[in-house]
Amino acid sequence: MDIRPFATEQYFARYEFITPHILCASDCETLTTGELLRLAGLDAADLLGQRLSYTESQGDPALRAAVAALYEDVPPEAVVLLGAPEEGIYLTLRALLEPGDHVVALTPAYDSLLNLAEHISGNVSHWPVRPVPGGWALDPAELERLIQPDTRLVIVNFPHNPTGYLPPPDVFAALIAIVRRRGAWLLCDEMYRGLERDAGDRLPSAADRYERAIVLAGLSKTHGLPGLRAGWLVVRDPALRASLINWKHYTTICPPAPTELLATAALLAHAPLVARSRGIIAANLQLAEAFFARHAARFDWRPPRAGSVALVGLDTPSATAYCHALARDAGVLLLPGPCLGADDHSVRFGFGRVGFAAALAQYEEVLSQ
Ligand SMILES: Cc1ncc(COP(=O)(O)O)c(C=O)c1O
Repeated sequence: MDIRPFATEQYFARYEFITPHILCASDCETLTTGELLRLAGLDAADLLGQRLSYTESQGDPALRAAVAALYEDVPPEAVVLLGAPEEGIYLTLRALLEPGDHVVALTPAYDSLLNLAEHISGNVSHWPVRPVPGGWALDPAELERLIQPDTRLVIVNFPHNPTGYLPPPDVFAALIAIVRRRGAWLLCDEMYRGLERDAGDRLPSAADRYERAIVLAGLSKTHGLPGLRAGWLVVRDPALRASLINWKHYTTICPPAPTELLATAALLAHAPLVARSRGIIAANLQLAEAFFARHAARFDWRPPRAGSVALVGLDTPSATAYCHALARDAGVLLLPGPCLGADDHSVRFGFGRVGFAAALAQYEEVLSQ
C-alpha cells in the first residue's frame, strides 16, 4: 500500500550529502563519539565493553529513569525508548488511530505527523499556524471550532518545525483545556524543546500538564546527536503504552545497545550539550537578522521564538523550483516550504550548524550576482 511521499526526507536524501552549503538543517551541530564520552566523563573503554545483545523492549531502566528526570513528574515506567524519534510518531499513530477516526493536526508540520495520520484515519482537520506581524500565531478558538465530540487525537509540535513558533503559556494552557474537555489524546512533538531563544520562555512539557498527552522527544535536535537515532515517548496510560509496545515489536523490537549507552552519556552531558546548541543558534540568528535586514525587499523574515529553524517568505514564483536550482547551480541548500505543507513562496532556514556563516556568505554571493 502506498503512502504520500515523505517530501522533506526525500529532498534531504537527494541533496544533503552532495550539497556543500547547508542552510536549512533542523538538527544542531553534532560531535564525535569521543567528544561525547569525554563531555559525559566516560571513556572509550565504556563503549568498547558494551555488549551487543538484545535490550529491553521498553528501554534500559536506568536510561528511562534519566529521561524521566528531565520532566517535573514523570515516572520511569511511563517512558518508552525508541529505535529513533521518527518511530515514536509511527507507533503512536498506529496504536491510536483506526480508519475514520477524527484527528486535528497543526499545520504546516513535519511530514509524518500529517501524512501518517491522513494515511491511517483519512479524517484529518488542519489547525494552521498563521503569520502575524513579526511572527506566528495559533488561535485556540480555531481549535475549538475544529474539534468534535468524538475527536480521537490532536497533534501539535512545540517548538514548531518549520516556523519556530512557540505558544505563549496562556495559549498552551487553553489548548490543553480544550483537548481535555473533549477527552481526546494529545500527541505533542517536543523534539526541539530546550532551544527557546529566551530560556525563560520554555513551556512545561505536555507530559506534565495532561494525563492523555503522548510526548515525543529525543536527542537529534536539541542535543545535536541525530546519528544516535535516540528518542523516547512519554505515555502515562498503561493500556496505550502496552499497545504501542506491541506495535514496536513489529518495527525495531528494542533500542540498539550502543545507542542506549551513548544516550546515557548524552543525558549525563545534558546541560553542556543544550548550552552548546543554544549558543550556536544564537550566534547564527544574529547573522541571519543582519542578512535579512540587508535583503528586506526579497524576504519576509519572521524570527523564530524557539527551535532551530524558521520559515521565511521568498519573493519568487515557485520556492520549490528556486531551491532545486539553488542546490544544483550554487551548492546552497534551502528547504522548499511545500515539503512541510507550507506555501510555495516560503523556504525553511536552519540555524543549528556551525557551517551556517559560510553557507550564508555563499548564498549572499549568489544573491549579488
Ligand atoms: C518535528 C519533528 N519530529 C520528529 C522528527 C524526527 O526526528 P528524527 O529524524 O531524529 O527521527 C523531526 C525531524 O526532523 C522533526 O522535525
